[in-house]
Amino acid sequence: MPKNSQSILARAREHIRPWVGPGFVTETVEAARATLQRYASASVNDGARIYGIWDAGVLLGGVMFVSFDAAWGNCELGCWLEPAGVGRGLITRSIELLMAWAFIERKMERIEWRCRTDNERSVAIAQRLLLRSEGVLRSNWVFDGQRYDTAVFSILRPEWLELRGREN
Ligand SMILES: CC(C)(COP(=O)(O)OP(=O)(O)OC[C@H]1O[C@@H](n2cnc3c(N)ncnc32)[C@H](O)[C@@H]1OP(=O)(O)O)[C@@H](O)C(=O)NCCC(=O)NCCS
Repeated sequence: MPKNSQSILARAREHIRPWVGPGFVTETVEAARATLQRYASASVNDGARIYGIWDAGVLLGGVMFVSFDAAWGNCELGCWLEPAGVGRGLITRSIELLMAWAFIERKMERIEWRCRTDNERSVAIAQRLLLRSEGVLRSNWVFDGQRYDTAVFSILRPEWLELRGREN
């Protein structure tokens, strides 16, 4: 891997570390490959999926179905960006595309969004996309020896269709 790519990855890593699960923060190419392989295996089985957001050949971030359960119609979305990608609406627009795919193409019934309650940018995405707050999981997030609360948001298929003026 080129040296420049290593430093970009390191910068993205520290940027996301407080806000994502520890299993998503990798230190080596092998560990990163294992994470991608985990998503690839899951997607083959119609489960979790991950998508990169690229700008002129540079990976700026990604969006993913953290979970995807077609049998029950439930899924959870997540995201990350490297600092250069923040503030451009990349995640809001990408997540809206995944929501449309989930609700229209796959007829999913419920999409969930979870984040630390103090993750203001992530909370803003949920609110911008009109997800409903379902409450707070108290003290269930651990980072750097401290415990934090998790906010849970969701949007249901009938709500999304009505809010977006779609029929099916
Ligand atoms: C969470 C995270 C991805 C949010 O990034 P973000 O850039 O705020 O989100 P978006 O890409 O949707 O961009 C929204 C911003 O772009 C602006 N914007 C510009 N064009 C826009 C458009 N067409 N549509 C929506 N927003 C647009 C918005 O006004 C907003 O900026 P503001 O908050 O300064 O007003 C980012 O902070 C991050 O990577 N954090 C660390 C990892 C993390 O927290 N992951 C989520 C775990 S739950």
